[in-house]
Amino acid sequence: MATINDNYLKLKAGYLFPEIARRVNTFAQANPDARIIKLGIGDVTEPLPEACRTAMIKAVEDMGSRATFKGYGPEQGYAWLREKIAAEDFQARGCEVDASEIFVSDGAKCDTGNILDIFGKNNKIAVTDPVYPVYVDTNVMAGHTGEVNEKGEFQGLVYIPITAENDFQASLPSAKVDLIYLCFPNNPTGAVISKDELKKWVEYAQENNSIIFFDAAYEAYITNPELPHSIYEIEGARNCAIEFRSFSKNAGFTGIRCAFTVVPKELTAKAADGSDVELWKLWNRRQSTKFNGVSYIVQRGAEAVYSEAGKAQIKSLIDFYLENATLIREQLSQAGIDVYGGVHAPYIWLKTPAGLSSWDFFDKLLQTCHVVGTPGSGFGAAGEGYFRISAFNSRENVEEAMKRIGEKFKV
Ligand code: MLT
Repeated sequence: MATINDNYLKLKAGYLFPEIARRVNTFAQANPDARIIKLGIGDVTEPLPEACRTAMIKAVEDMGSRATFKGYGPEQGYAWLREKIAAEDFQARGCEVDASEIFVSDGAKCDTGNILDIFGKNNKIAVTDPVYPVYVDTNVMAGHTGEVNEKGEFQGLVYIPITAENDFQASLPSAKVDLIYLCFPNNPTGAVISKDELKKWVEYAQENNSIIFFDAAYEAYITNPELPHSIYEIEGARNCAIEFRSFSKNAGFTGIRCAFTVVPKELTAKAADGSDVELWKLWNRRQSTKFNGVSYIVQRGAEAVYSEAGKAQIKSLIDFYLENATLIREQLSQAGIDVYGGVHAPYIWLKTPAGLSSWDFFDKLLQTCHVVGTPGSGFGAAGEGYFRISAFNSRENVEEAMKRIGEKFKV
């Protein structure tokens, strides 16, 4: 008889965003006249940059002639895109990253989950709390945890709280951990990490032979030139870090799908016999076997991100969402709500008013303002009592949502 992966049964609730969508649909069906404004999932709303669209149209035309037609591409991505990424995102910042270390993929979400394929079952794993739920859920699915407790914490994981009490700065684990997930600018809190703080993590990883999974999907939102965009800006990180990047939040590719993962060639981890094995080789093997690459058309669109026109168009997209974030921060503060983040990130993290639980505030906001956000507790136990508002929406919708919240919640 066929059996299942029982680890899935440990995941009591549905994945956070579909669960929110389910509740919103129920509300919408019962209240067909409500004009619901969605500031929940971090999904972009503004049109794709023209430079990317033009490049993709040209790529479609390439497919129309035998001379330029493309079938299967390299599983790791086309060299012309990998070279652009290495030069513009890393070498231009003084980071030593070679094009051959870039693996183009269809999403940072997929990569942060799939990376577990190349790691053993007995690693001690640390995540911040709150945290992007994919890191936790994929470890549960892979059988790296025990059961969940009533607070939503999985046995076996090391949770590092990042809350207003510690100024959203993750402190180093007191015990030794093998794999560490860091995301900066942070989803969901919008917090950032300085070079000095990140250096402490790199040193910790070097001393403990740990590997850091550094999710930099929101690096384009950094406005302070002192803050690191890549972990490879820190000396020694090539020996202890894998970095995840995405075109979703800078170029608006959430629906197009393109991202990449950097695996430095000198990065190793132990095999069962105690020998050191290069992770690059394992990830290359994994991708060549389980993945057929991102479409030629999409990769041409991603390449255009690095053209002069593309860079200018992306800058104005980011500026637009950051202006939304400023507006949200200001309006919520005026309504007497404590807000964090939203300066180097498209997410505003707030303390729920009147001590409401995260889900109670979600329901209240939906029912009284017809505005959707994301309950902080959906990102982990330490997110209870917090709430996330996304700056991804039209100016008109953001202004309208803030007006409604201001009217209902002003103290
Ligand atoms: C979020 O809302 O946290 C993001 O949309 C998640 C993602 O990028 O997958």
